[in-house]
Amino acid sequence: MNILVTGGAGFIGSNFIHYLLGDGLHDHIINFDKLTYAGNLANLADVADDSSYTFIKGDIADKTAVEAAINDYHVDAIVNFAAESHVDRSILDPDAFVRSNYVGVSTLLDAVKTFKVDKFVQISTDEVYGSSRPGEQFSETADLNPSSPYSATKAGADLLVLAYFKTYGLNVNITRSANNYGKLQFPEKLIPLMVTNGILGKPLPVYGDGTNVRDWLNVADNCRAIDAVLRRGQAGEIYNIAAHNYAKNIQIVKKVINHLNISKSQIEYVADRPANDLLYSIDDAKIRHELGWQPRVDFDAGIDQTIDWYVNHEQWWRPLLGKVKNR
Ligand SMILES: NC(=O)c1ccc[n+]([C@@H]2O[C@H](COP(=O)([O-])OP(=O)(O)OC[C@H]3O[C@@H](n4cnc5c(N)ncnc54)[C@H](O)[C@@H]3O)[C@@H](O)[C@H]2O)c1
Repeated sequence: MNILVTGGAGFIGSNFIHYLLGDGLHDHIINFDKLTYAGNLANLADVADDSSYTFIKGDIADKTAVEAAINDYHVDAIVNFAAESHVDRSILDPDAFVRSNYVGVSTLLDAVKTFKVDKFVQISTDEVYGSSRPGEQFSETADLNPSSPYSATKAGADLLVLAYFKTYGLNVNITRSANNYGKLQFPEKLIPLMVTNGILGKPLPVYGDGTNVRDWLNVADNCRAIDAVLRRGQAGEIYNIAAHNYAKNIQIVKKVINHLNISKSQIEYVADRPANDLLYSIDDAKIRHELGWQPRVDFDAGIDQTIDWYVNHEQWWRPLLGKVKNR
């Protein structure tokens, strides 16, 4: 297959491209990325010369550029990771989120229809369901109840994807995953922020009292799940992807502190993010039963490996520090 991976220079997209290039199936991967602050070609430096890999700098909201990429490379499938992804930035500048996360998806869907692309996978998030009550897990049929401009644009895009399935019969899927952790994540997100600040002797900012709970999914497990959906997902279906590794933010921060052997006094409690959801919790029985996927990475081992990766790749994150907001 010729697979167009949009947003492939970001965290999950670059991990997914490495996964595809290593799976022995000899697909051709076209990475289409705008290279925003979060897009980093260093993530793919090791595959830049691979004959199965092509990079195109482009914006998914640019109809001409999207159509040229699909036409020139005879694209069979699109996996859309491209998005503005940071909730804090969406509170400061929602417009950029509407353009990339909603208008961009509309542009991609139109091109899928025009060029009869066989498959479109939209990478969405558990945040579209909003906060769970304790013990409550949202399945794929739950109402959408997003709290931030980020999750609202993702929810809007999901509805657009489903409308293109119902109206035009496009072969689409949506994945809604839990919080990912792993290598190559921009050092503004919780784990790389804590590790890099920890190493630099800077404060470790924790929102509110640090009791917001997230479900932590290793990015490698997410890549396997997305691949299963790409190849075997049923048309029009949504798949939740969870790990059931629930941890309070403060517990993650303490894991980093213990691993780096630094002082707890580096923790700095800061005013909570507006409308910060207390708990994300999703039911992923569908992908487990229908596609036979389940996470493989042990949580504690995965977190330790991830912290070690940032410790050992200072040359990767140091050049990015100037782009991190509120540092
Ligand atoms: N990181 C998570 O924990 C998580 C969890 C669930 C879902 N998601 C979703 O997964 C996807 C990838 O997330 P991530 O953490 O890798 O994000 P990221 O911010 O690391 O990467 C996003 C990538 O998209 C590119 N991009 C942004 N706007 C673009 C545009 N208009 N056209 C082309 N490229 C554009 C950026 O340059 C960057 O390379 C996003 O859609 C996000 O909503 C992420």
